[in-house]
Amino acid sequence: MKLIAIVLVLAVPARAATSTFQALGKGFKAPVVVAQGFDAQVIFSNLTAPRGIAFDANQNLLVVERGFGITAFTRVSSPSAGWRRTVVIENPKLTQGIQVDGRNLYVSSGDSILVYEYDIATTSVDATHPPYTFVGGLPANGPVNTHTLQLETDLTGRTVAVLVAVGPSVNIDPLARDPNSGRSTIRRFPIPLREAPLYDPVPFDFSEGQVLAYGLRNPTGFTFHSGWNTFTAGTKNLFVVDNGPELDNVPGLDAAFLSENPADELQQIQYTVGPDSEIPSPQFYGFPDCFTIWNPAADELGVRQYLGTKKGAQFSAQLTPERDDAWCRNKKNNVAPVLPFQAHTSPLDIKFFTPSLFNSNSSFPATYGGDAFVSFHGSLGQPLPSGYGVVRVPFIHGLTPPNVDYSFVIQAMNLTTCPGDCIRPVGLAFGEDGKLYVSSDNSGELFVLQRKIAT
Ligand SMILES: *[C@@H]1O[C@H](CO)[C@@H](O)[C@H](O)[C@H]1NC(C)=O
Ligand SMILES: *[C@@H]1O[C@H](CO)[C@@H](O)[C@H](O)[C@H]1NC(C)=O
Ligand SMILES: *[C@@H]1O[C@H](CO)[C@@H](O)[C@H](O)[C@H]1NC(C)=O
Repeated sequence: MKLIAIVLVLAVPARAATSTFQALGKGFKAPVVVAQGFDAQVIFSNLTAPRGIAFDANQNLLVVERGFGITAFTRVSSPSAGWRRTVVIENPKLTQGIQVDGRNLYVSSGDSILVYEYDIATTSVDATHPPYTFVGGLPANGPVNTHTLQLETDLTGRTVAVLVAVGPSVNIDPLARDPNSGRSTIRRFPIPLREAPLYDPVPFDFSEGQVLAYGLRNPTGFTFHSGWNTFTAGTKNLFVVDNGPELDNVPGLDAAFLSENPADELQQIQYTVGPDSEIPSPQFYGFPDCFTIWNPAADELGVRQYLGTKKGAQFSAQLTPERDDAWCRNKKNNVAPVLPFQAHTSPLDIKFFTPSLFNSNSSFPATYGGDAFVSFHGSLGQPLPSGYGVVRVPFIHGLTPPNVDYSFVIQAMNLTTCPGDCIRPVGLAFGEDGKLYVSSDNSGELFVLQRKIAT
C-alpha cells in the first residue's frame, strides 16, 4: 500500500512538467480579416490538429488535439500575459468529441465514448483509473469518424443523457434511410442516476442508443438553444450543422451546378423527454434522397430545372422513382433545414451566445444574445474556395428569421491561397468572459474573438 502511494507522488511532478507557455501577440500563420469592431488574438500555435473544445467550470479550455490527446489551456497574467498548455491525456485515438461535467470528462474515439475522471484543480486525469467506456461499438468506418458529443441536462441542470453523432458509411449512403442502421444519425444514451464520478462496469453498446434523428448526412456539430426561446419548458431545442455530399453521379447535374449545390445545412430537432427518458419517434432529415438548393442559377444554361426554385428549396437526387422532388418537398416525408449554408463550406460546430454576468467591454455585444455562431472548415477541391471562417447567424426568439443572412466575424484573408496555411475553424466555445474561442486544425492554432476596445 505504502509503495503505491510513493509511486503516485513521484508521478505527479512528471505530469506537471508537461506544460508550455505562449505569450500573447503571436501572429496568425496566414492573414485573417475580422469583422469591424472585433479583434482576433492567437492563444496558441503549433498544436496537433486541434478539433473539439470545451470549457471546464474553472474556465480552463480543454482541447482535443487529434492524433495526440487532450490538452488544457489556462490564462496566465504574470510574469507575462499569455496561455499555459498542460497535457491532460495522451491518447492518439481521440478524434473530436469533448464534454465536461464536473469530474466526468467525456471524449470520443472512432469506435467508443470514453469517460475519464478529471481533476479540475490540476487539469489532469486520475492516473490510477483507466477511462471507463460509456458507449462501445460505434461505427468507425466511412469518410468521417469524429463522433461529436453533446450532454443533455434536465431542468435542474443535471446531466441526463449523452448525444452522439455518426456519419455515413459512404458519400451517398442508402443505409441512412433506415433509422436502425446507425448511419447519418444522432443517438441518445440516457445516463442512469448514479454517484459521480461516473464509473460503471457495463458500457452501452451503440445499438442500444435511442434514435433522435436520422437522414442527417454528417451531423458534425450540435448544441441546445436554451435562452430566448418561445418553446415550452422541457422541450429540447437542438440545432445541428450538417455537411452535404458530392452529388457527382446524379444525372442532369453538372460540375458548374455542383460547385454551388447542394447547400450545407442548419437543422432543428425538437423533442420532449418522457418520465422514463423515452423520446418521440425520430424524424427523417432527407439524406440520401433529398437535398437543399443553394444557388438555383449556378449553371443557368446547363442545369435549368431548378431555375424557378429558391435558395433553401428541397430537391431530389432521384435515387428512386418514388422519392422525387415532390416527395422531398412534402414535410411529412422530409424535414427541411431551417437555414441553408453556402455549398462546400463544411460547417463543423455551432454555439449560441448568452451574455453573462462577467461581460466586459471586450465581450461580444449584448445585442448578439441568442444568436448562433458557426465554424466553417472550408471547401476542398472547388474552383473557388469558400468557408474558412466563423459566421454569425442572427436568431430572434430562438428561431432563424426566414431568408436571414449570416455574416463572417472572421475569415481567411485570401481564399485563393486556401487551404494552404489558412485558418480552418473546427471547435467553438464561449467563455464566461463573453468571448468566442476557436480551434483551427490545419493551421494548428487556437484563437479568441473579442470586441475591439476603442482607444
Ligand atoms: C511554430 O513552429 C514553427 C516551425 O517550427 C516556428 O517557426 C514558429 O516560431 C513556431 N511558432 C510559435 C508561436 O511558437
Ligand atoms: C474597458 O474595461 C476595462 C476594465 O474594466 C477598463 O479599465 C477600460 O478603461 C475600459 N475601456 C474602455 C475603452 O471603456
Ligand atoms: C491571393 O493569393 C493569390 C495566390 O497566391 C495571389 O496571386 C493574389 O495576388 C492574392 N491576392 C491578394 C489580394 O493578396
